[in-house]
Amino acid sequence: MNKIIERKMIVPNMHLLTLEAPDIASKVKPGQFVIVRANDEGERIPLSVADWDEEKGTVTIIFMEVGASTGALACLAAGDSVATCVGPLGNETEIGNFGTVMCVGGCYGIGSLYPVVKALKKAGNRVIMVFEARSNYLIYWVDKYIKLADKIFNVTRDGSLGLKGHISRLPDIINGLPNPPDRVIVNGCTFLMARTSEMTRDPSIPTVVNLNPIMIDGTGMCGVCRVTINGKMKFACVDGPEFSGHEVDWKEFLSRRKAYLEEEVLFFRRSEPKQAVHKEGKCQA
Ligand SMILES: Cc1cc2nc3c(=O)[nH]c(=O)nc-3n(C[C@H](O)[C@H](O)[C@H](O)COP(=O)(O)OP(=O)(O)OC[C@H]3O[C@@H](n4cnc5c(N)ncnc54)[C@H](O)[C@@H]3O)c2cc1C
Ligand code: FES
Repeated sequence: MNKIIERKMIVPNMHLLTLEAPDIASKVKPGQFVIVRANDEGERIPLSVADWDEEKGTVTIIFMEVGASTGALACLAAGDSVATCVGPLGNETEIGNFGTVMCVGGCYGIGSLYPVVKALKKAGNRVIMVFEARSNYLIYWVDKYIKLADKIFNVTRDGSLGLKGHISRLPDIINGLPNPPDRVIVNGCTFLMARTSEMTRDPSIPTVVNLNPIMIDGTGMCGVCRVTINGKMKFACVDGPEFSGHEVDWKEFLSRRKAYLEEEVLFFRRSEPKQAVHKEGKCQA
Protein backbone atom coordinates (compact mmCIF):
# COMPACT_ATOMS: atom_id res chain seq x y z
CA MET A 1 0.00 0.00 0.00
CA ASN A 2 1.27 3.46 -0.84
CA LYS A 3 -0.33 6.46 0.83
CA ILE A 4 -1.59 9.30 -1.35
CA ILE A 5 -0.11 12.63 -0.30
CA GLU A 6 -1.87 14.66 -2.99
CA ARG A 7 -4.36 14.01 -5.80
CA LYS A 8 -5.80 16.88 -7.76
CA MET A 9 -7.09 17.63 -11.23
CA ILE A 10 -4.60 20.10 -12.71
CA VAL A 11 -6.40 20.70 -16.01
CA PRO A 12 -9.61 19.00 -17.22
CA ASN A 13 -9.15 15.21 -17.23
CA MET A 14 -5.48 15.41 -16.19
CA HIS A 15 -4.56 14.52 -12.61
CA LEU A 16 -1.53 14.93 -10.39
CA LEU A 17 -0.92 12.09 -7.96
CA THR A 18 1.80 12.21 -5.31
CA LEU A 19 2.46 8.93 -3.51
CA GLU A 20 4.56 7.97 -0.54
CA ALA A 21 7.17 5.65 -2.10
CA PRO A 22 10.59 6.23 -0.47
CA ASP A 23 12.28 3.21 -2.13
CA ILE A 24 11.27 4.44 -5.57
CA ALA A 25 12.09 8.09 -4.84
CA SER A 26 15.64 7.13 -3.83
CA LYS A 27 16.35 5.29 -7.11
CA VAL A 28 14.21 6.68 -9.91
CA LYS A 29 15.78 8.37 -12.95
CA PRO A 30 14.30 10.52 -15.75
CA GLY A 31 12.28 8.49 -18.28
CA GLN A 32 11.42 5.65 -15.89
CA PHE A 33 7.94 4.53 -14.89
CA VAL A 34 6.02 2.77 -12.13
CA ILE A 35 3.18 0.25 -12.28
CA VAL A 36 0.24 1.21 -10.10
CA ARG A 37 -2.90 -0.64 -8.98
CA ALA A 38 -5.59 1.66 -7.63
CA ASN A 39 -7.19 -1.08 -5.49
CA ASP A 40 -6.95 -4.82 -4.81
CA GLU A 41 -9.15 -5.74 -7.79
CA GLY A 42 -7.54 -3.17 -10.07
CA GLU A 43 -5.39 -3.87 -13.14
CA ARG A 44 -1.73 -2.89 -13.22
CA ILE A 45 -1.16 0.28 -15.23
CA PRO A 46 2.18 1.83 -16.20
CA LEU A 47 2.62 5.54 -15.44
CA SER A 48 5.73 7.69 -15.91
CA VAL A 49 7.32 9.38 -12.92
CA ALA A 50 6.96 13.11 -13.52
CA ASP A 51 8.77 14.27 -10.40
CA TRP A 52 10.05 12.99 -7.07
CA ASP A 53 11.37 14.22 -3.74
CA GLU A 54 14.03 11.95 -2.28
CA GLU A 55 13.98 13.69 1.10
CA LYS A 56 10.21 13.42 1.53
CA GLY A 57 10.19 9.96 -0.07
CA THR A 58 7.49 10.82 -2.59
CA VAL A 59 6.93 10.33 -6.32
CA THR A 60 4.58 12.37 -8.50
CA ILE A 61 2.68 11.11 -11.52
CA ILE A 62 0.59 13.02 -14.01
CA PHE A 63 -2.15 10.87 -15.51
CA MET A 64 -4.95 11.32 -17.96
CA GLU A 65 -8.29 9.76 -17.09
CA VAL A 66 -9.04 7.57 -20.11
CA GLY A 67 -10.66 4.39 -18.79
CA ALA A 68 -11.46 2.14 -15.84
CA SER A 69 -8.11 2.13 -14.02
CA THR A 70 -7.24 5.79 -14.44
CA GLY A 71 -10.89 6.51 -13.48
CA ALA A 72 -10.42 4.54 -10.25
CA LEU A 73 -7.21 6.47 -9.49
CA ALA A 74 -9.00 9.76 -10.12
CA CYS A 75 -11.54 8.83 -7.44
CA LEU A 76 -8.89 8.57 -4.73
CA ALA A 77 -7.94 11.46 -2.48
CA ALA A 78 -5.11 12.53 -0.19
CA GLY A 79 -5.02 10.16 2.82
CA ASP A 80 -6.25 7.16 0.77
CA SER A 81 -3.78 4.55 -0.47
CA VAL A 82 -3.19 2.74 -3.74
CA ALA A 83 -2.91 -1.06 -3.49
CA THR A 84 0.53 -1.20 -5.12
CA CYS A 85 3.12 1.05 -6.73
CA VAL A 86 6.06 -0.89 -8.16
CA GLY A 87 9.21 0.59 -9.63
CA PRO A 88 11.24 2.24 -10.85
CA LEU A 89 10.86 0.30 -14.11
CA GLY A 90 12.31 0.67 -17.60
CA ASN A 91 15.53 2.30 -18.67
CA GLU A 92 16.41 5.87 -17.91
CA THR A 93 16.56 8.51 -20.65
CA GLU A 94 19.97 8.83 -22.27
CA ILE A 95 21.30 12.19 -21.07
CA GLY A 96 24.39 13.76 -22.64
CA ASN A 97 25.59 17.11 -23.86
CA PHE A 98 23.85 16.96 -27.23
CA GLY A 99 23.74 20.72 -27.94
CA THR A 100 20.18 21.89 -28.58
CA VAL A 101 17.43 19.46 -27.61
CA MET A 102 13.82 20.04 -28.62
CA CYS A 103 11.39 18.42 -26.17
CA VAL A 104 7.88 17.92 -27.54
CA GLY A 105 5.16 17.18 -24.97
CA GLY A 106 1.41 16.64 -25.18
CA CYS A 107 -1.17 15.45 -22.62
CA TYR A 108 0.59 13.46 -19.84
CA GLY A 109 3.90 13.89 -21.72
CA ILE A 110 4.14 17.49 -20.53
CA GLY A 111 4.54 16.03 -17.04
CA SER A 112 6.79 13.07 -17.89
CA LEU A 113 9.25 15.31 -19.75
CA TYR A 114 9.91 17.45 -16.68
CA PRO A 115 12.68 15.29 -15.09
CA VAL A 116 14.19 14.75 -18.54
CA VAL A 117 14.40 18.52 -19.14
CA LYS A 118 15.91 19.09 -15.69
CA ALA A 119 18.62 16.49 -16.43
CA LEU A 120 19.27 17.86 -19.94
CA LYS A 121 19.80 21.36 -18.55
CA LYS A 122 22.12 20.03 -15.85
CA ALA A 123 24.17 18.36 -18.60
CA GLY A 124 24.61 21.74 -20.34
CA ASN A 125 22.08 21.48 -23.19
CA ARG A 126 20.00 24.27 -24.68
CA VAL A 127 16.39 23.11 -24.35
CA ILE A 128 13.53 24.19 -26.61
CA MET A 129 10.08 23.11 -25.39
CA VAL A 130 7.12 22.53 -27.69
CA PHE A 131 3.77 22.00 -25.97
CA GLU A 132 0.92 20.58 -28.01
CA ALA A 133 -2.71 20.63 -26.81
CA ARG A 134 -6.26 21.06 -28.02
CA SER A 135 -6.48 24.45 -26.30
CA ASN A 136 -4.40 26.76 -24.10
CA TYR A 137 -6.19 25.73 -20.88
CA LEU A 138 -4.88 22.15 -21.29
CA ILE A 139 -1.23 23.19 -21.02
CA TYR A 140 0.14 22.90 -17.47
CA TRP A 141 3.40 23.26 -15.50
CA VAL A 142 4.43 26.27 -17.61
CA ASP A 143 5.67 27.94 -14.39
CA LYS A 144 8.09 25.03 -13.86
CA TYR A 145 9.30 24.96 -17.47
CA ILE A 146 9.82 28.74 -17.69
CA LYS A 147 12.60 28.33 -15.10
CA LEU A 148 14.33 25.64 -17.19
CA ALA A 149 13.67 26.03 -20.90
CA ASP A 150 15.60 28.39 -23.17
CA LYS A 151 12.56 28.83 -25.39
CA ILE A 152 8.94 27.64 -25.32
CA PHE A 153 6.66 27.18 -28.34
CA ASN A 154 2.98 26.24 -28.15
CA VAL A 155 0.78 24.58 -30.74
CA THR A 156 -2.96 24.52 -30.03
CA ARG A 157 -5.61 23.04 -32.27
CA ASP A 158 -7.97 25.98 -31.70
CA GLY A 159 -5.21 28.60 -32.07
CA SER A 160 -5.79 29.93 -28.53
CA LEU A 161 -2.03 29.89 -27.85
CA GLY A 162 0.93 29.87 -30.23
CA LEU A 163 0.60 28.24 -33.63
CA LYS A 164 -2.82 27.00 -34.72
CA GLY A 165 -3.08 23.33 -35.70
CA HIS A 166 -1.55 20.15 -34.40
CA ILE A 167 1.96 18.79 -34.27
CA SER A 168 2.16 18.86 -38.08
CA ARG A 169 3.20 22.51 -37.52
CA LEU A 170 6.53 21.29 -36.09
CA PRO A 171 8.47 21.93 -39.35
CA ASP A 172 7.34 25.61 -39.15
CA ILE A 173 8.96 25.83 -35.71
CA ILE A 174 12.14 23.99 -36.72
CA ASN A 175 12.54 25.99 -39.96
CA GLY A 176 12.23 29.23 -37.99
CA LEU A 177 15.23 28.37 -35.80
CA PRO A 178 18.78 29.49 -36.73
CA ASN A 179 19.83 25.80 -36.68
CA PRO A 180 17.81 22.60 -36.44
CA PRO A 181 17.91 20.90 -33.02
CA ASP A 182 20.53 18.20 -32.47
CA ARG A 183 17.96 15.87 -30.92
CA VAL A 184 14.20 15.69 -30.42
CA ILE A 185 12.59 13.95 -27.44
CA VAL A 186 8.84 13.43 -27.56
CA ASN A 187 6.46 12.21 -24.83
CA GLY A 188 2.69 11.91 -25.00
CA CYS A 189 0.03 10.21 -27.08
CA THR A 190 0.93 7.79 -29.86
CA PHE A 191 -0.17 10.14 -32.63
CA LEU A 192 2.12 12.89 -31.30
CA MET A 193 5.13 10.55 -31.13
CA ALA A 194 4.52 8.87 -34.50
CA ARG A 195 3.83 12.12 -36.35
CA THR A 196 6.83 13.90 -34.81
CA SER A 197 9.08 10.98 -35.77
CA GLU A 198 7.75 11.11 -39.34
CA MET A 199 8.59 14.82 -39.59
CA THR A 200 12.13 14.54 -38.20
CA ARG A 201 13.09 11.57 -40.39
CA ASP A 202 13.93 13.55 -43.51
CA PRO A 203 16.02 16.26 -41.84
CA SER A 204 17.67 13.29 -39.99
CA ILE A 205 17.20 14.67 -36.48
CA PRO A 206 17.67 11.84 -33.95
CA THR A 207 14.28 11.44 -32.28
CA VAL A 208 13.57 9.63 -29.04
CA VAL A 209 10.05 8.48 -28.14
CA ASN A 210 8.78 7.10 -24.82
CA LEU A 211 6.53 4.23 -26.00
CA ASN A 212 3.27 3.53 -24.17
CA PRO A 213 2.09 0.03 -25.19
CA ILE A 214 -0.27 -2.00 -23.02
CA MET A 215 1.80 -3.60 -20.23
CA ILE A 216 1.09 -6.19 -17.57
CA ASP A 217 4.08 -7.21 -15.48
CA GLY A 218 6.55 -4.54 -16.63
CA THR A 219 9.48 -6.90 -16.10
CA GLY A 220 9.84 -8.69 -19.46
CA MET A 221 7.86 -11.83 -18.49
CA CYS A 222 4.44 -11.56 -20.18
CA GLY A 223 5.35 -10.31 -23.66
CA VAL A 224 2.33 -7.99 -23.88
CA CYS A 225 4.45 -4.89 -24.50
CA ARG A 226 6.16 -6.42 -27.57
CA VAL A 227 7.18 -3.81 -30.15
CA THR A 228 9.19 -4.02 -33.38
CA ILE A 229 12.21 -1.75 -33.48
CA ASN A 230 14.32 -1.69 -36.64
CA GLY A 231 12.83 -5.09 -37.61
CA LYS A 232 13.72 -6.68 -34.25
CA MET A 233 11.36 -7.71 -31.48
CA LYS A 234 11.79 -5.78 -28.24
CA PHE A 235 9.86 -5.55 -24.97
CA ALA A 236 9.12 -1.91 -24.19
CA CYS A 237 9.20 -2.50 -20.42
CA VAL A 238 12.77 -3.81 -20.24
CA ASP A 239 14.36 -2.73 -23.54
CA GLY A 240 12.63 0.68 -23.47
CA PRO A 241 10.36 2.46 -22.99
CA GLU A 242 12.55 4.87 -24.99
CA PHE A 243 13.44 4.04 -28.58
CA SER A 244 14.38 5.86 -31.75
CA GLY A 245 11.09 7.08 -33.23
CA HIS A 246 12.53 6.43 -36.71
CA GLU A 247 12.91 2.71 -35.95
CA VAL A 248 9.47 1.98 -34.46
CA ASP A 249 6.99 -0.05 -36.54
CA TRP A 250 4.16 2.39 -35.83
CA LYS A 251 1.51 0.47 -37.81
CA GLU A 252 2.02 -2.64 -35.69
CA PHE A 253 2.29 -0.54 -32.53
CA LEU A 254 -1.08 1.10 -33.14
CA SER A 255 -2.84 -2.17 -33.93
CA ARG A 256 -1.46 -3.88 -30.77
CA ARG A 257 -2.58 -0.92 -28.64
CA LYS A 258 -6.18 -1.57 -29.78
CA ALA A 259 -6.07 -5.27 -28.80
CA TYR A 260 -8.35 -4.90 -25.76
CA LEU A 261 -10.59 -2.11 -27.04
CA GLU A 262 -13.71 -4.32 -26.99
CA GLU A 263 -13.10 -5.39 -23.35
CA GLU A 264 -12.46 -1.77 -22.35
CA VAL A 265 -15.75 -0.65 -23.91
CA LEU A 266 -17.63 -3.63 -22.39
CA PHE A 267 -16.27 -2.74 -18.94
CA PHE A 268 -17.70 0.73 -19.31
CA ARG A 269 -21.09 -0.63 -20.43
CA ARG A 270 -21.22 -3.05 -17.48
CA SER A 271 -20.16 -0.48 -14.90
CA GLU A 272 -21.85 2.62 -16.31
CA PRO A 273 -23.60 3.73 -13.10
CA LYS A 274 -20.30 3.66 -11.19
CA GLN A 275 -18.29 5.80 -13.58
CA ALA A 276 -16.49 8.75 -12.09
CA VAL A 277 -18.22 12.07 -12.56
CA HIS A 278 -16.28 15.11 -11.53
CA LYS A 279 -17.96 18.22 -10.27
CA GLU A 280 -15.79 21.12 -9.22
CA GLY A 281 -12.78 18.80 -9.25
CA LYS A 282 -14.38 16.27 -6.84
CA CYS A 283 -15.24 12.68 -7.70
CA GLN A 284 -19.01 12.05 -7.47
CA ALA A 285 -19.00 8.30 -8.27
C1 LIG B 1 5.81 3.21 -20.00
C2 LIG B 1 4.44 3.88 -19.98
C3 LIG B 1 4.31 5.08 -19.34
C4 LIG B 1 3.04 5.70 -19.30
N1 LIG B 1 2.94 6.89 -18.64
C5 LIG B 1 1.74 7.47 -18.52
C6 LIG B 1 1.60 8.66 -17.75
O1 LIG B 1 2.56 9.18 -17.17
N2 LIG B 1 0.37 9.20 -17.67
C7 LIG B 1 -0.72 8.66 -18.31
O2 LIG B 1 -1.81 9.22 -18.22
N3 LIG B 1 -0.62 7.53 -19.02
C8 LIG B 1 0.58 6.92 -19.13
N4 LIG B 1 0.68 5.74 -19.84
C9 LIG B 1 -0.55 5.19 -20.42
C10 LIG B 1 -1.40 4.51 -19.33
O3 LIG B 1 -0.75 3.35 -18.88
C11 LIG B 1 -2.80 4.16 -19.88
O4 LIG B 1 -3.47 5.34 -20.19
C12 LIG B 1 -3.61 3.36 -18.88
O5 LIG B 1 -3.09 2.06 -18.78
C13 LIG B 1 -5.05 3.28 -19.33
O6 LIG B 1 -5.74 2.49 -18.37
P1 LIG B 1 -7.33 2.61 -18.21
O7 LIG B 1 -7.82 1.32 -17.63
O8 LIG B 1 -7.70 3.85 -17.48
O9 LIG B 1 -7.83 2.76 -19.66
P2 LIG B 1 -8.25 1.58 -20.63
O10 LIG B 1 -9.69 1.24 -20.37
O11 LIG B 1 -7.25 0.48 -20.56
O12 LIG B 1 -8.13 2.33 -21.99
C14 LIG B 1 -8.98 3.44 -22.30
C15 LIG B 1 -8.50 4.09 -23.56
O13 LIG B 1 -7.12 4.42 -23.40
C16 LIG B 1 -6.36 3.80 -24.42
N5 LIG B 1 -5.16 3.20 -23.83
C17 LIG B 1 -5.04 1.97 -23.29
N6 LIG B 1 -3.77 1.73 -22.92
C18 LIG B 1 -3.10 2.85 -23.25
C19 LIG B 1 -1.76 3.23 -23.16
N7 LIG B 1 -0.82 2.38 -22.67
N8 LIG B 1 -1.43 4.49 -23.53
C20 LIG B 1 -2.34 5.33 -24.02
N9 LIG B 1 -3.62 5.02 -24.17
C21 LIG B 1 -3.99 3.80 -23.81
C22 LIG B 1 -7.21 2.66 -24.96
O14 LIG B 1 -6.92 2.44 -26.34
C23 LIG B 1 -8.60 3.17 -24.76
O15 LIG B 1 -9.02 3.95 -25.85
C24 LIG B 1 1.91 5.10 -19.92
C25 LIG B 1 2.07 3.87 -20.57
C26 LIG B 1 3.32 3.26 -20.59
C27 LIG B 1 3.49 1.93 -21.25
S1 FES C 1 4.87 -5.76 -19.75
FE1 FES C 1 5.18 -7.91 -19.77
S2 FES C 1 6.93 -8.15 -21.00
FE2 FES C 1 6.68 -6.01 -20.87
